[in-house]
Amino acid sequence: MSRSWESSKLPRMEVTEEALATLTVRPIRADDRKRILDARRYTSPQTYSQRFHEAAHHFSDHELTYLTEVDGENHIALVATECDDPDRLVAVARCVRHRDDPGEAELAITVHDPYQHRGIGSAMLRLLCDMAIERGIVRMRAFIERDNAAMIGLMHKVFPEARRADRFGRTWEFVADVVSGPPKPWSGAR
Ligand SMILES: CC(C)(COP(=O)(O)OP(=O)(O)OC[C@H]1O[C@@H](n2cnc3c(N)ncnc32)[C@H](O)[C@@H]1OP(=O)(O)O)[C@@H](O)C(=O)NCCC(=O)NCCS
Repeated sequence: MSRSWESSKLPRMEVTEEALATLTVRPIRADDRKRILDARRYTSPQTYSQRFHEAAHHFSDHELTYLTEVDGENHIALVATECDDPDRLVAVARCVRHRDDPGEAELAITVHDPYQHRGIGSAMLRLLCDMAIERGIVRMRAFIERDNAAMIGLMHKVFPEARRADRFGRTWEFVADVVSGPPKPWSGAR
């Protein structure tokens, strides 16, 4: 029996990962649509391109609703904000359950530019995995541009067994079993 989204506690929040020490991590809320738009001020076209696979991303009202008004069961999304500035969006990690295969979800993550490569993506993805596992998700898929070294590195760091399943032009589809707990070392390129 799953807990309600609003009342569910974030798992492993006692983990004092250094990367999250100055951040608040919580489920996304409807009022985060403004934070998503405000984050455009400090987010590069490259980051949007890697996340949304298009150079100039325009957030429509419909998309903002989709991104922020989630059920927490089939669409799980976590945001990180600055502890000292709760309106400042740092990162968003989400996964959306596959309609035809409820054990599987597609994941996507953005760490906004000033916060990249500090371990925040890894920490957020691990928290997301814990929530996904609690909800019966056992496998994640991610669509990653082949030159996106950061996301490929992140996948292999969090999911040591991640593998390339398919290729669509410049984009690779990665698939990985969802794992919990501390990261295991990744032994090399795949
Ligand atoms: C991909 C992304 C989420 C990674 O988040 P992050 O917080 O920077 O990642 P971390 O600091 O946790 O780093 C995790 C691993 O990724 C790899 N990595 C991160 N930044 C990297 C970079 N600039 N170059 C190469 N590898 C990098 C490393 O393997 C790193 O592990 P290490 O620190 O032990 O070496 C972030 O760069 C981002 O939002 N990029 C733009 C949007 C995007 O690509 N989203 C993914 C679409 S599915």
